[in-house]
Amino acid sequence: MIQVKTFYAHNELRNFSYLILDDKSGESWVIDPYEAGPLSEYIKENHLNLRGILNTHQHFDHIRGNIPLMEMFKTEVRTLSPQETIQLNQTHALETLPTPGHTPEHQVFFISSGGIRHSLFSGDTLFNAGVGNCKNGGNINDLYETTGKLKVLPGDILLYPGHDYILRNLEFAATLEPENAKILEGIRLAQGESEDNRRPRTLKEEMGVNPFFRLDSEEIRQRLTPEIRLEDESVIKRELFKKIRSLRDHW
Ligand SMILES: [Fe+2]
Repeated sequence: MIQVKTFYAHNELRNFSYLILDDKSGESWVIDPYEAGPLSEYIKENHLNLRGILNTHQHFDHIRGNIPLMEMFKTEVRTLSPQETIQLNQTHALETLPTPGHTPEHQVFFISSGGIRHSLFSGDTLFNAGVGNCKNGGNINDLYETTGKLKVLPGDILLYPGHDYILRNLEFAATLEPENAKILEGIRLAQGESEDNRRPRTLKEEMGVNPFFRLDSEEIRQRLTPEIRLEDESVIKRELFKKIRSLRDHW
């Protein structure tokens, strides 16, 4: 069986790193190592074979643990082109998708079985109730296009983001949609969890609360469109997206 183990870094940036492992063969892969220590301890204690490291993008907090893990386990950082997959076992594979926006080269990873994707490691592209910012080399138009691609993925895909921003993002989302009961319930549930043990949300759940997925929301439109003076429906969503990103940047 393929398992996903989440490592919360307890740092100011609230990073998540992930270990994907096949419990039968003991083969494992790391995504975005922040701290090598807890990952290497787990790998050693469970007698796993670390096959390689994958990075969603090159910001320091996603590659910080690369070198120590490479040295400790004599392994390397694997780059994956869109056509390539990594076979995890007989039935499961890792796939990638380019997701420019937060950075030009950003990519996300999926675990799939039989061609069906069911887990998404989204780095700094998509967060719970939010998306990444464009402050460090990003492009908001690319991020808008990329978010559109993720929005149409199957709703039962589990989301594994690069940071634990769920609570702040939901609190921000509530300022845009105070009447959205799913956001209020989401805040209550997130407050009751520890960062080390968050339940991965589905994309369907994200559709109910993530303002960047909710550009059709009447409440959001009524609140924000007077400020952006929209005449053309074809530009409304892009402009709303940019407005929400800019509000979140200064919130
Ligand atoms: Fe980043």
